[in-house]
Amino acid sequence: MASASLILLWAVVILRADSLPDKKSLLLPPTNFTINVTGLAQVLLRWEPNPHQEPGNVELGYRVRINAPQEEDYETRNTESKRVTVLHQGFSASVQTIPWDGHSLLASNWVSAELKAPPGSPGTSIVNLTCTTTTMLNNSNPSRPYQVSLYCTWLVGKDAPEDTQYFFYYRYGSSTEECQEYRKDTLKRNIACWFPRTFIRSRGSDLLAVHANGSSQRAAIKPLDQLFALHAIDRINPPVNVTAEIEGNYLSIQWEKPISAFPIHCFEYEVKIYNARKNYFQTEKMTTNTFISITDDISKYSIQVRAAVSSVCRQTGLWSEWSQTVYVGNDDQKPSTEWFLIVLVATICFILLIFTLICKIGHLWARLFPPVPAPKNSLKDFLVIVSPEKTVSSETEIEVISYVEESGLETLEDSVF
Ligand SMILES: *[C@@H]1O[C@H](CO)[C@@H](O)[C@H](O)[C@H]1NC(C)=O
Ligand SMILES: *[C@@H]1O[C@H](CO)[C@@H](O)[C@H](O)[C@H]1NC(C)=O
Ligand SMILES: *[C@@H]1O[C@H](CO)[C@@H](O)[C@H](O)[C@H]1NC(C)=O
Ligand SMILES: *[C@@H]1O[C@H](CO)[C@@H](O)[C@H](O)[C@H]1NC(C)=O
Ligand SMILES: *[C@@H]1O[C@H](CO)[C@@H](O)[C@H](O)[C@H]1NC(C)=O
Ligand SMILES: *[C@@H]1O[C@H](CO)[C@@H](O)[C@H](O)[C@H]1NC(C)=O
Repeated sequence: MASASLILLWAVVILRADSLPDKKSLLLPPTNFTINVTGLAQVLLRWEPNPHQEPGNVELGYRVRINAPQEEDYETRNTESKRVTVLHQGFSASVQTIPWDGHSLLASNWVSAELKAPPGSPGTSIVNLTCTTTTMLNNSNPSRPYQVSLYCTWLVGKDAPEDTQYFFYYRYGSSTEECQEYRKDTLKRNIACWFPRTFIRSRGSDLLAVHANGSSQRAAIKPLDQLFALHAIDRINPPVNVTAEIEGNYLSIQWEKPISAFPIHCFEYEVKIYNARKNYFQTEKMTTNTFISITDDISKYSIQVRAAVSSVCRQTGLWSEWSQTVYVGNDDQKPSTEWFLIVLVATICFILLIFTLICKIGHLWARLFPPVPAPKNSLKDFLVIVSPEKTVSSETEIEVISYVEESGLETLEDSVF
C-alpha cells in the first residue's frame, strides 16, 4: 500500500515537472504561416522556422493541425504542405514547432491561419452532385489511346434565384478545365456537364476535384467543391466479343477484357447463364476469360458477362453493365417444327377417322366396293322399285345419286372403249 502511493506521488511529480513551462526548453513557433489556394480544392500551407530559435543540436519538426473543414493532425520536417480538400466551407490550420528526434523539449505554441468561406447562403449551391467516368479507345492518339470522359449532373439549390447560372470545373493533377458542354433545365440553368475528353488518367490514384460556382443578379451563389475517388465513379465498359458454343456436353463461353487502360490481369468477371428450358439463372464469378460448364440437357442458353477492376489493381469499384446477350443451344425453332409435325400427323389421323366414320354411316364403303357387280338396271326400273320410299328417306336420295353417278361412269367407260 505504501509503495503504491509512493509510485503515484512520483508519477504526479514527473507530470508536474513535464507541464511546467521552462523558458529554456520551450521551442519557438514557426513564423510567416500562410495558406494559399494553389488550385481547385487545393491549398499550400507554408511557414518558416522561427529566426530566434537558438540553433542547438536538436532536430526540429512541425506538427500541423487542420481544424476545418475536417480535423486532421500530422507531423512533418518540411516547411510546406500541400492539401487537397473542399474549400467552400473555408479552411483553417495551425502549426507548431516540435522536437523531431524524441527529445524532451516542449513543443512550441501554435500559430494559425485561415481561408474565409466564400460568400453566399448554402441553399444557393448546387445539390445532389454525381459524376461518372468512362473510358473510350481513340486510336488516332497513339500516345494516349484511352480517353477518359466525365459526366456530372446536379440539381439547382432550393434558394438559388431563377436567374442563377452555374459554372462547372474539374481538376485532375495539375490540369483544370471548365465545362464546354452543358445540359440545361427549362430556365436555361446548367444542370449537367459532359467532358468528352479529360486529363483524368483512369489508372491514376489522385482524387478528382470538381468545383461548381455560380452567379445571379439577386444573390451571391455559394460555390461547392467535391472530391471523388476514381474507383468509386468509374463506369467500366462491359467485356467485348463474348462468344459461346456447345460441344457435346460442354458449354464453353469466352470473352475479351473491356476497353480499358487496365491490363488483362486486373479484371474479374461475372457470367450469367440463363437456362431457358429450366427457367433458371446461374451466376459465376471468375478472373479468367473463359468459362466451361457441363450441360446435362438440351436447352437454349442466354449468356451475359460483366466486368470490374479487381482489388489486385485498385480498390474495388463498380461492376460494368452486362454485355450484349449471346444465345446458344437448341433455339425454339426446332421444337416448334416438331410440334408442327406432330399436329400435322394428328390432324391427318383425325381426318381419316372422321372419313371412315362417315363412310360407315353412309354405307359408302359397301357401295364404293360392291361385293358383286350390280345388275344393270335401267333408270326406269329403279325408279319403279324405290319410288314408294322416295318421300320418306333421305338415305334413299343418296342412293339415287350414287346410282346416277355410277351409271354415268359406266357410260363414260363405254364411250372410251
Ligand atoms: C516573414 O514575412 C515578412 C513580411 O511579411 C518578411 O519581412 C520576413 O522576412 C519573413 N520572414 C522570413 C523568415 O522570411
Ligand atoms: C499566399 O497568401 C497570402 C495571404 O494568405 C498572400 O499574402 C500571398 O501573396 C500569397 N502568396 C502567393 C504565392 O500567392
Ligand atoms: C437529393 O439528395 C437528398 C439527400 O442528399 C435526397 O433526400 C433527395 O431525394 C435527392 N433528390 C433527388 C431528386 O435525387
Ligand atoms: C481522338 O483524339 C484526337 C487527338 O487527341 C482528337 O482530335 C479526336 O477528336 C479524338 N476523337 C474522338 C472521337 O474523341
Ligand atoms: C468560378 O470558379 C472559377 C475557377 O475557380 C473562376 O475562374 C471563376 O471566376 C468563378 N466564377 C464565379 C462566378 O465565381
Ligand atoms: C473482337 O473481335 C473482332 C473480330 O473477331 C476483332 O476485330 C476485334 O478486335 C475484337 N475486339 C477486341 C477488343 O479484341
